[in-house]
Amino acid sequence: MTSEHHILENLNTAVLLFDEQLCLKQLNPASEAMLAVSARQAVGSAVKELVPADADFVAALQHALDTEEPRTEREIQLHLAHMHTIIVDCTITPLRDGSRPPELLVELFQRDRHLRIAREEQLLAQYNTSRTLLRGIAHEINNPLGGLRGAAQLLEQELDDEALREYTNVIIGEADRLQNLLRRMLGPNTLPHKKVINIHEVLERVYALTQAEAPPEITIKRNYDPSIPELVADPEQLIQAVLNIVRNAMQALGDNSGTITLRSRTQRQFTIGNHRHKLVARIDIIDDGPGIPPSLRDQLFYPMVTGRADGTGLGLSIAQSLVNQHDGLIECSSQAGETVFTLLLPLEKIDE
Ligand SMILES: Nc1ncnc2c1ncn2[C@@H]1O[C@H](COP(=O)(O)OP(=O)(O)O)[C@@H](O)[C@H]1O
Ligand SMILES: [Mg+2]
Repeated sequence: MTSEHHILENLNTAVLLFDEQLCLKQLNPASEAMLAVSARQAVGSAVKELVPADADFVAALQHALDTEEPRTEREIQLHLAHMHTIIVDCTITPLRDGSRPPELLVELFQRDRHLRIAREEQLLAQYNTSRTLLRGIAHEINNPLGGLRGAAQLLEQELDDEALREYTNVIIGEADRLQNLLRRMLGPNTLPHKKVINIHEVLERVYALTQAEAPPEITIKRNYDPSIPELVADPEQLIQAVLNIVRNAMQALGDNSGTITLRSRTQRQFTIGNHRHKLVARIDIIDDGPGIPPSLRDQLFYPMVTGRADGTGLGLSIAQSLVNQHDGLIECSSQAGETVFTLLLPLEKIDE
């Protein structure tokens, strides 16, 4: 393998090379992942077949070819297979080498499918900080609350008057309610008990649990890649994380009919935080509900962010921290009619 090839293979940016007829000559793995195609299928196809129906994109390529001037286009929509649309920024560089026909080098940078993709190290650190802060506060409130509850109980025993006991009952009842909330704010506080598992054990458990909870209007589908290698993980923690996401999807669908799909795949070359993984398991939880309210989109994984009147806003923040404990990441993309939460879990630990 030449070193240029090595760089291209491992580059995070999607890089494609087109000939003067705008047929694809070459693409790197990051492009394969972004466009959801394999090099074998894609090389040789015209740009119109590769990303159908985006006139702007083709016009920009043609223009760069005609003028031989590099250009940058922002927020181009690419329509991929299965009605999937992504938004990219793109840099087009015409290459001319002596008398050889010109070629176009195209770099694509995905603009987070409407949502900020939480891939950066900094965001992961922010999530952790906000969770630590919340746990600290919950802990501080929890202790005196225990004291209050205990004192109310003692007082109750001393009271002969039934009417007065109603008051102590209120104190005890409300203290219990608060303690319940605090327990959830504290979240899972045990370290993961990791063992070698198949990710489908996790998905099957979530499927069974949610299948039992779901109203008849909601269909839950499974779409698995059975060849995913085993991974080292705490199954209970992953079940909790996936369950939080699927329950949100059920709540988003409400009384309307809808479909939730649990899908498993592998993905090559994926960066989480500042670590690049050769292979990750990719679990998508897809629903066809109304989508995440735009006002929440940037803060979704922070604790106490909720769009529901009776929500606590803890579900996604806990799910994210559970997956982080497995060196993984949860991402989300959402528009009306399609919301996808994606768990990415590194797969290379087993033989270390
Ligand atoms: N699949 C989804 N579709 C639409 N909105 C969602 C979805 N998942 C999460 N949300 C939004 O994100 C918010 C935060 O979710 P979460 O952290 O689990 O807290 P909670 O469920 O307690 O509100 C939800 O209140 C909801 O507004
Ligand atoms: Mg929730």
